[in-house]
Parts: sequence; structure tokens; C-alpha cells
Amino acid sequence: MNLLNINISFEEYAGIAELSENDRQLCERAEQTLSNSYSPYSKFKVGTAIRLTSGETILGSNQENLAYPSGLCAERVALFTIGATYPNAVIKSMAITAQTDAFEILKPITSCGGCLQVMAEFERKQNAPIEVIFYCLGGEILKVPSVKSLLPFSFVEDRLSSGN
Ligand code: THU
Repeated sequence: MNLLNINISFEEYAGIAELSENDRQLCERAEQTLSNSYSPYSKFKVGTAIRLTSGETILGSNQENLAYPSGLCAERVALFTIGATYPNAVIKSMAITAQTDAFEILKPITSCGGCLQVMAEFERKQNAPIEVIFYCLGGEILKVPSVKSLLPFSFVEDRLSSGN
């Protein structure tokens, strides 16, 4: 038996003012897009802004449905928009934030496993790391340099990929 360890390093910021200008703008775009969240069931708004290496920014927010599992998280709304409209785009970074009137969010909300798996696939496809920023409005911010830090054991089976 071998006991192995995986170490991840991530950055922690006390607030948005500590971020670089680019990251700050991305967080602000994620916050602005919260207003497009369609979340009448959970009343929990999630917004994301994804910066491509071309400089373009793609937005996404969670979109719920009365048939609950038919809804989709903000991250996947934006990522699949990129896949469908800019299939050759390379993602540089993404910022994610959340808001609800039901309670105060005091720590950054991190992405669900399903979204991490989709992020992992984009990162693998583009063969370049995606920076992920979790932005707590008015609070702490976490930044990881790669999706690998968030989901080191993502599902990968190269023999299932045809390359398209
Ligand atoms: N949600 C996201 O948009 N992203 C995540 O990573 C986790 C959860 C949404 C789904 C649902 O609309 C609401 O948050 C409550 O779960």
C-alpha cells in the first residue's frame, strides 16, 4: 500500500479591492449577471463571467425549471454557450458569485461537482489551465490556478474520445 498526497495551493483575498484589475472586472461582471438568474424555486442566484483569451467575456446565470432536474447551473450555462458558439475558444479565467435574500452568504460559494467535471473537460480540451475565482460579495475571494486543483480525480478516459 502506498499513501499518496495531493497538495493544492490557492489564493485568498480579503476583498475585491485586492484583486488585479482584470480579475476585479470579471468579478463585477459575474455580480451584474446575477440579475439574469431565473431561480424562483431555490431563490438562490448564481452568476458567472468567463474571460476568453480573445478578451471576450461570456456570461451565465442559473436557470431553473419547475421540473427541478431540468434546470442548469450558471457555470454550465456559460460553458456550454462557449462550446456552442465559440467552439475553438480558449478560456483564461472564470469568476463565480452567488446571492440570496434568504440568508447572508459569508464565504465564497464553490461550484458543484457536475460543473467541476464540465470545467475539467474544457481545460483538458484546450490543454491550458483555467483560473477559477470564487467571489463572495462584500467578502473573501478564493482563486485557484487550475480546475485540477478543484477536481484532481475528474473522470477521464481517453479511449472514449474520438477527438471531436
Ligand atoms: N447552482 C449553480 O448555479 N452553480 C453551482 O455550482 C451550484 C448550484 C444553482 C443551481 C440552483 O439553481 C441553485 O444554485 C441552488 O442549488
